[in-house]
Amino acid sequence: MNVVGIEDDLLGDGLRQVQREIDSVFDAFLPVPDDTRARLVEAMRYAAIGGGKRVRPLLLVSTAELFGVARDAALRAGAAVEAIHVYSLIHDDLPCMDDDDLRHGKPTLHKTFDEATAVLAGDALHALAFEILADTGTSPDPFTRSELIATLGKASGMGGMAGGQMMDMVADEEGVDYDLHTITRLQQLKTGALLAASVEMGAILGRIPPEGRTHLRGYARDIGLAFQIADDLLDVTGDESRAGKALRKDEGQGKQTFVTLMGVAKAREQARMLIDQAIGHLGSHGSEADMLRALARFIIERDR
Ligand code: IPE
Ligand code: IPE
Ligand code: MG
Ligand code: MG
Ligand code: MG
Repeated sequence: MNVVGIEDDLLGDGLRQVQREIDSVFDAFLPVPDDTRARLVEAMRYAAIGGGKRVRPLLLVSTAELFGVARDAALRAGAAVEAIHVYSLIHDDLPCMDDDDLRHGKPTLHKTFDEATAVLAGDALHALAFEILADTGTSPDPFTRSELIATLGKASGMGGMAGGQMMDMVADEEGVDYDLHTITRLQQLKTGALLAASVEMGAILGRIPPEGRTHLRGYARDIGLAFQIADDLLDVTGDESRAGKALRKDEGQGKQTFVTLMGVAKAREQARMLIDQAIGHLGSHGSEADMLRALARFIIERDR
C-alpha cells in the first residue's frame, strides 16, 4: 500500500512491513488448487492479498512485541484476525448489505467474480481464521490456542462484528432511532470488537493473564470506537480516490453514526478525545509502546 502521507517513519515502516508479511502469510495459506475449487481460492486471494491497511495485524504484532512474542506466531494470529476482517468486508459490500462496487481501489469481489463466489470466499476466510489459530504453528500451548480461538470467535459473532452489522442494517428501518448509547454499542460491536481482539490476542500470545491486560483493554476500547468514527467521518469528508471505496453513502442508506447524530465537528472532537484517552492508558509503558501510540494517532488522521 502507498502510505505516503504518513509522516511518522515508525508507523509508515511498521505498516509497510506488516503489509508485506501478511500478504506472504496469506499467499502461503492459499495455494490455488488444480480443480474446480480454483475460483473460490482465486477469489479469496483477490480479497485477502494486497490492498488493506492491515491495522489489525499491526495492532496484534505490536502488542505481542511488548511481551517478547516470536514475530512468526504473532503474524499468524494477525492473519487470522485479518481473514475475519476481509470476510466481513466481502459480505459488507454485497448488494444485500451496503451494495458497493469499489474496495481497495478495485471492483468489489462480487463484481469481479459473482455473488455466490463472494459468499463462499467470505465463508472460507472465516473458517481459515480458526484453522490458523488451532494449528500448533501459532502456539505450541493448547490453552493459548484455545484462548485465541475463543477471543476471536466472540469478537466475530453475535457479540461482536456480526451483531454490530445487524444493528447497522436494522438502523434504516422505520421507527428505529438509535441514541448515542446505542450507536456507541453498535460501533463497539461492528468495528471495535475485532480491533480489541487484536490487542487482546497479542497479550494472550504473550501469556499475560487477564488482570494484566486491563490497561490494554482500555486502549483497545477507545481506539476501536475512534476507528469507526473516523470511518464515518471519511464517508462524509474523505476523498474517494484516496479511500479506494465509494464515499458519501451512509446518509442515503439510512446509517446511524456519530456523524449523523452529532455532526462532523463534534464527532471529530469525540474521536480526538478517545485517542488521547487511549494513549493515556499506555502510561505504564515506555518507548516500547510507541508503535501503539502512533497507531492510535493514525486512526483519526488517516485519509483511507
Ligand atoms: C474498514 O476497515 C471497515 C471498518 C470496519 C470501519 P479498514 O479501514 O480497516 O479497512 P482496510 O482493510 O484497511 O481497507
Ligand atoms: C463495515 O462498516 C464494518 C464491517 C464490519 C465490515 P462500513 O460499512 O462503514 O465499512 P466501509 O465503509 O464499507 O468500509
Ligand atoms: Mg456496512
Ligand atoms: Mg460498507
Ligand atoms: Mg464506512
